Amino acid sequence: MKHILIGGLEVSCLGLGAMSMSGFYDIGAGSDEESTRTIHRALELGVTHIDTAEIYGPYINEELVGRAIKGRRDQVVIATKFGFVSHAGGGPGVIDSSPANIRIAVEGSLKRLGTDYIDLYYQHRVDRNTPIEDTVGTLAQLIKEGKIKHIGLSEAGVDTIRRAHAVHPITALQTEYSLWTRDPEAELLPLLRELGIGFVPYSPLGHGFLTGQIKSPEDLADNDWRKTNPRFIGENFQRNLRIVEEVKAVADQLGATTAQIALAWLLAQGNDIAPIPGTRRVARVEENIASESIELSSEQLKRLNNLTPASGERHSEAGMAAIDR
Ligand SMILES: NC(=O)c1ccc[n+]([C@@H]2O[C@H](COP(=O)([O-])OP(=O)(O)OC[C@H]3O[C@@H](n4cnc5c(N)ncnc54)[C@H](OP(=O)(O)O)[C@@H]3O)[C@@H](O)[C@H]2O)c1
Repeated sequence: MKHILIGGLEVSCLGLGAMSMSGFYDIGAGSDEESTRTIHRALELGVTHIDTAEIYGPYINEELVGRAIKGRRDQVVIATKFGFVSHAGGGPGVIDSSPANIRIAVEGSLKRLGTDYIDLYYQHRVDRNTPIEDTVGTLAQLIKEGKIKHIGLSEAGVDTIRRAHAVHPITALQTEYSLWTRDPEAELLPLLRELGIGFVPYSPLGHGFLTGQIKSPEDLADNDWRKTNPRFIGENFQRNLRIVEEVKAVADQLGATTAQIALAWLLAQGNDIAPIPGTRRVARVEENIASESIELSSEQLKRLNNLTPASGERHSEAGMAAIDR
């Protein structure tokens, strides 16, 4: 698989998001064994970039990734995130990027991942109670100590990125970006390119919606996190299905799957963009990785660029409130 540089860090152009291996989404059977096989298959097919976070599970996703990469550490760029668990008392779900919290978080992540360094350590959400300069200052110290190699931000806005980058070079921004979430194109991508920061699109398959495999809200279990996402609810769901039909039309022209077109479109957006589609199934990781070889014509790219915008915000009200803009 092709390798690219994101802010100076070399990664495979497609990575693997591990979040859905430990909850959040719930369609069909999943197991740690199948998730582990999925990670191994991804590595075999040339993926080097695996994305997890302290909050996934919480904790058990990092443990799963740690077990899966045991003996293969050198093959992997491990990306994980802190700041969505407040160890001082608030616990999981509480935003906290204070220096003291980062110090506790990093030791836990290193232990669970079974490694003595993290390649890319992201702040998961901007903490309005801690100046970003303090957070990045602490991360810069962790680089000096050899505990992390690179610093990332997730869902940070332009001002925060500039302030952070002034303290220490930021390697990557991780933010939602896909055929139905085009917001980063307006301000974020130009800024990242100006500063030489790479971009890691999360939820590149629209949490699975853009694959065409979720056909009705009833396909989602009651405890599926997507049941709280406005795009998966009521009339929005039906309207958004039309977007998927358009993507499928392009897929049919190329004998590809809808998921593959969603990924091929992202890969066509630049050599500084490294999407991390998530799956816990071997067959799907194979399918997703094969999108690397799909060439979209200028006509097809134009059609995809002009899709009807998605109906509904990309996160719930609480989720949107946590996003730095
Ligand atoms: N920084 C952040 O705040 C943030 C937020 C969300 C996600 N992320 C990261 O981004 C990664 C990917 O995002 P995501 O998991 O939200 O969304 P995604 O990659 O857009 O979609 C994942 C969903 O699509 C399904 N899927 C994957 N490949 C498929 C295929 N070929 N055909 C049909 N269905 C397919 C998966 O189901 P199965 O697993 O059952 O195959 C899963 O339900 C996560 O793993 C996580 O590492 C980061």
